[in-house]
Amino acid sequence: MINIAIDGPAAAGKSTIAKKVAARLGYKYLDTGAMYRAITLYLHEHKETDLNELSELIDIEFSQEGKLFLNDRDVTDMIRESHITKQVSSVAALKEVRVFLVDLQRKISSKKGYVLDGRDIGSVVLPDAELKIFMTATPEVRAQRRLIEEHARGNNIELSVLIDEITERDTNDMTREISPLVQAEDAVLISTDALTIDEVTSKIVEFANEKVTGD
Ligand code: DC
Repeated sequence: MINIAIDGPAAAGKSTIAKKVAARLGYKYLDTGAMYRAITLYLHEHKETDLNELSELIDIEFSQEGKLFLNDRDVTDMIRESHITKQVSSVAALKEVRVFLVDLQRKISSKKGYVLDGRDIGSVVLPDAELKIFMTATPEVRAQRRLIEEHARGNNIELSVLIDEITERDTNDMTREISPLVQAEDAVLISTDALTIDEVTSKIVEFANEKVTGD
């Protein structure tokens, strides 16, 4: 088994595809963005937190069904709320937060057989990952996909608002000092603008099978 790193900007389709790739290969999926969101929620609820104590204060667990538990509380839906989405990139820029989560992500994936999605997996968390994918799409296409999700949740948000939010988050993620979003040198670039979810999934599964069989 290998580890597969999938990085890229917000709403490029990483988590949907990473889950499908994991299911097709019989691998586990690790949503590292959800971990940054969980810390954001914790810091929102505990404003006086000493960032040097994160490892003593915070326990993050994923259930087999993919639910996220923060200190034994199911926060799967809460971490997707828009006030958390708005704050998450500034929390993800904090050095103590990154050190804590990178360490946890390395521990979890040390047994191999993981598909991890995030921003710095191929560049920082697992520079030796056997397969690295950098997934992109234009801000308009990403916002359009997010719009469909938001409408399905009953949120009547406008496309232009989503384009602005996505562009702002990209800028924050790409320009932060520690572990900015970058394409690792040895990552395969996939633009998902004109591809279906199944087409992207199949491409990555093919690459993974080639790596496993050494072709
Ligand atoms: O993938 P997402 O939208 O759930 O990620 C939430 C935020 O967390 C995103 O703005 C960037 C940050 N993030 C990060 O800095 N490093 C990762 N490995 C994953 C996410």
